[in-house]
Amino acid sequence: MITRADFVKQLFWGQKLQPISEKATAFAPSNIALCKYWGKRDAELNLPITDSLSVSLGHWGAETTVQQSSVAQDIYWLNGEQVEETTEFYRRLHVFLDLLRPHPKFYFQIQSISNLPIAAGLASSAAGFAALCQALAKWFALDFSAQKLSLLARVGSGSACRSLWSGFVHWHAGSLPDGSDSFATPIALQWPQLRLGLLILSHHAKPISSRVAMQQTVQTSTLYASWPVKVRDDLSAILSALPEHDFPKMASHAESNALAMHATMHAAMPAIMYALPETVAAMHTVWALRKQGVPVYFTQDAGPNLKLLFEEHATKAVQAAFPELTAIVAPFAA
Ligand code: PMV
Repeated sequence: MITRADFVKQLFWGQKLQPISEKATAFAPSNIALCKYWGKRDAELNLPITDSLSVSLGHWGAETTVQQSSVAQDIYWLNGEQVEETTEFYRRLHVFLDLLRPHPKFYFQIQSISNLPIAAGLASSAAGFAALCQALAKWFALDFSAQKLSLLARVGSGSACRSLWSGFVHWHAGSLPDGSDSFATPIALQWPQLRLGLLILSHHAKPISSRVAMQQTVQTSTLYASWPVKVRDDLSAILSALPEHDFPKMASHAESNALAMHATMHAAMPAIMYALPETVAAMHTVWALRKQGVPVYFTQDAGPNLKLLFEEHATKAVQAAFPELTAIVAPFAA
């Protein structure tokens, strides 16, 4: 088995880790999976068991600036607040940056600003890690293809490998043990009418991280065996719905895929349940709306909040049923 350090060393083969300017900045969008990534075949390299497919959230995401730290320690600022060294987030960033130091006594200062509504349940590390990788590539003037950047972002945070592009993105699970074929590629299709509504149902921190929940599900859930089959079916349906803008086909598979992912967690031991009573109530409202003829669906990630899927023409009906919608994202808006 290849280590993360060896994998990154291979990626950087022949490239110099030397800043060419004082600092560098890059932006990357957040992404929401329509067909989810749930389960790793290699936790060290963040290699998934299945493919996944996402849509990026346009101009909603993270802007990250890298520069050299003026003190003998890494410093991270997140939305204007310094990240404490004791947090899991600090540790993850630190471990990732250890792979990229020009020399062992080189320390980074990283500033990341997310323009997503605070506590949108979308403060996922994906956009932040993707923007960090792009900023580092600029700063070190790396001769890196987008594919290589996707490989690097994946090592930082799995779903970050999908945040390097706007629009629809497909993460190929790959099959090589070193993970060199596990990267994302953009899908050259637009869907200007598509909308995602961010429905914030709880501001509390999630009880269990996606990293831990994934491992627990893979290791203990007997339903997990059905997950790769479910992904294969949903992915092929979604891929065939995209060019035709077949909304009910795409969104019904996205909703079903999210529910199936959560079902694998419910069967884990101990069980993992991200839904709150409010989450389930909102699901019923979505289903009632559909019965009334409004084409709206939902997807849910590792948290209690929902993302509603609909098209522009249904906006008014969706807003009337969910006046508390925090934001409506048009992923393909200019
Ligand atoms: O990349 P992570 O560790 O943040 O995991 C993401 C997991 C889900 O959001 C639940 C699914 C996905 O594909 O984004």
